[in-house]
Amino acid sequence: MLQSIRIRGGVGLNGAVDISGAKNLALPALVTTLLTSESVTLTNVPDLADVRSLLGLLSHLGTDIKISDDKHTVTLQTKNLRDVVAPYDFVRKMRASILVLGPLVARHRMASVSFPGGCAIGTRGIDLHIKALRLLGADVKIENGYINAEAPGRLTGAEINFSIPTVTGTENSIMAAVLANGTTTIINAAMEPEIPALVELLNGMGARITGHGTSVISIDGVESLHGTSYEVIPDRIEAGTYAVAAAATCGKLILKNCNHGHLLSFFETLHAAGVACDATDDGVLAYRRSNELCAVDIQTAPYPGFPTDLQAQYMALMSLSTGTASITENIFENRFMHVPELCRMGANIAIHGKTAIVTGVKKLNGAQVMATDIRASVSLVIAGLAAEGETVVNRLYHIDRGYENIDEKMRNCGADVERISV
Ligand code: EPZ
Repeated sequence: MLQSIRIRGGVGLNGAVDISGAKNLALPALVTTLLTSESVTLTNVPDLADVRSLLGLLSHLGTDIKISDDKHTVTLQTKNLRDVVAPYDFVRKMRASILVLGPLVARHRMASVSFPGGCAIGTRGIDLHIKALRLLGADVKIENGYINAEAPGRLTGAEINFSIPTVTGTENSIMAAVLANGTTTIINAAMEPEIPALVELLNGMGARITGHGTSVISIDGVESLHGTSYEVIPDRIEAGTYAVAAAATCGKLILKNCNHGHLLSFFETLHAAGVACDATDDGVLAYRRSNELCAVDIQTAPYPGFPTDLQAQYMALMSLSTGTASITENIFENRFMHVPELCRMGANIAIHGKTAIVTGVKKLNGAQVMATDIRASVSLVIAGLAAEGETVVNRLYHIDRGYENIDEKMRNCGADVERISV
């Protein structure tokens, strides 16, 4: 049965919300099990559809997996691989499956990963992942819809210069290089907080990586890695999403465990728009400083710029501003699918190429709307929370990929929301 979320708008979100572990760190962190024969235990793992999908793929490859009753602690051990193929059925459900490519080649000398297609937000190339593996000495061919990679022996350290910063491309390269012979330097590496966090995990397994968090990362290859335990950092995108939800509904929310330092650019923009996001002992306190929301222009950019994963949510907020804001999406070529759905709720948005011009309206009206990707979907939930009347967001599975128990968490903050089967 397909599920939807029914929202009766006009209620402020107040109180506190527990921010879960970061999806975009949990995914590469789980994959590190392929780099060692010893046990890796991860805590604060978010209970998400994408995590379950990746665990399914790792189990298919031969990883033994133990999951705690609350789903937040996962212990993985890959003593021997059963397979080095990541089949189409797994990869089509979740592009991040591409992250098994580097570790499989690094430790097992070969991998065959179904070529991840594009997705709703864009073509999502992986040419840079392939370039990095070839520079490290792997032979990589694209055959029958699969990326077939093979290394004649141990990979060899190399200089990898990315034309654009790629998050999973940087992660794949790091995980391929940790067991290589010699030193690898990644230039124009991604700097998203999930990269230094992944490196902390890998260094805790015996890797020798420096420069993480900057655009130049150096990896001295080692013979092998050992097991470890590691706590996943809080999800900055989930936290930013709830900050917008609080602002859109004139509520006041404590984002528990949120790391204020991971969202500086975003919080600066919110502050200029009239939304305070104050660091507190147990997270971040988000609330509207005044009744009026100022329209503030943004351009998405690689970290530390404005996160593309918060663009849709921010657009929902700007739909209620007192002015006109321009929102330019520089990372993905098709990340405006929320626009027609927000317009059906009464928003006034016009798209000109990579830029959406958002003219604030006094109110939004509830409607039946369609979700298309994780972040577009949640922007419709935010609009529904602020709108007058009832909103039903269909295809809830998009949201469940990236937000743990979103309906329960929002109800706990006073929202009138319920999950319904249609
Ligand atoms: C990661 O995707 C995140 N996913 C995305 O989050 C996030 O939007 C994105 O980084 C940007 O921050 C995970 O970490 C699992 P990129 P990734 O490689 O690594 C192009 C969410 O909602 N590119 O940094 O796939 C690419 O097409 C998801 O949680 C190439 O052309 O993004 C894009 O335009 C959505 N060739 C740009 O670079 C390549 O080889 C940045 O992509 C690689 C990327």
